[in-house]
Amino acid sequence: MKKIMIIDGGPRRNMNTGAMVEAFAEGARSADAEVKHVRLYDIDYKGCRSCMACQLKGKPVDTCRFKDGITDLLAECAAADGLVLASPIYFGDITAQLRAFWERLVFPWLSYAKGEVKAAKKMPVAFIYTMNASEAYAAQIRSTNLAQFEGVLAGALGHEPEAILACNTVQVHDYSRYEFAEGTSENKQVYKEAHWEEDLAKAREAGARMANAQD
Ligand SMILES: Cc1cc2nc3c(=O)[nH]c(=O)nc-3n(C[C@H](O)[C@H](O)[C@H](O)COP(=O)(O)O)c2cc1C
Repeated sequence: MKKIMIIDGGPRRNMNTGAMVEAFAEGARSADAEVKHVRLYDIDYKGCRSCMACQLKGKPVDTCRFKDGITDLLAECAAADGLVLASPIYFGDITAQLRAFWERLVFPWLSYAKGEVKAAKKMPVAFIYTMNASEAYAAQIRSTNLAQFEGVLAGALGHEPEAILACNTVQVHDYSRYEFAEGTSENKQVYKEAHWEEDLAKAREAGARMANAQD
């Protein structure tokens, strides 16, 4: 049975990112994969400390051995059959928690000597993003701010990156309690009715596709 790891870098359990992640997981499970969904905000850890232990001569290690809340999780991701990183977009980028996780995952795969980033095991990789803004904005930040984040990981894992998006998301349950522009609640509702089920369906399909991927 294939094992897919979903690393959820969003803080809110039951909102947009969580729902997209659950839809992806449902699709993957329906295609007989085992799915582990991990919420980074529940774990105590930090980004790379530049201890350089993973770059020592004669000591090639391909997962970060620094002991904290994600040490075992990093090894589990490196050994999986598929990897999904999910995040709400914060100021045009992934959350700080996901970035810190990514540093720890990827730095041990970097060889300065060879000038490459290569994981020991190849696997398909997908990115789930949710955001307030439009599809056009998503395309723009994917080609700028998110290009290294996606490109380095996908290159290391030997697969093209796939992104599953939910745009123009409903940010709060009751817009009347917050200082949003007039009409935001109505506009969001109209957009949601037209797109949300389709976004979830795309996440489910992507989950099934990853579970059925050939290598
Ligand atoms: C700190 C913060 C920064 C945000 N920055 C952006 C942004 O730059 N672009 C955007 O489209 N949405 C932005 N948003 C909106 C969230 O990305 C969006 O509501 C997302 O779907 C929230 O995911 P969640 O419901 O899973 O928490 C921001 C939200 C917060 C709280």
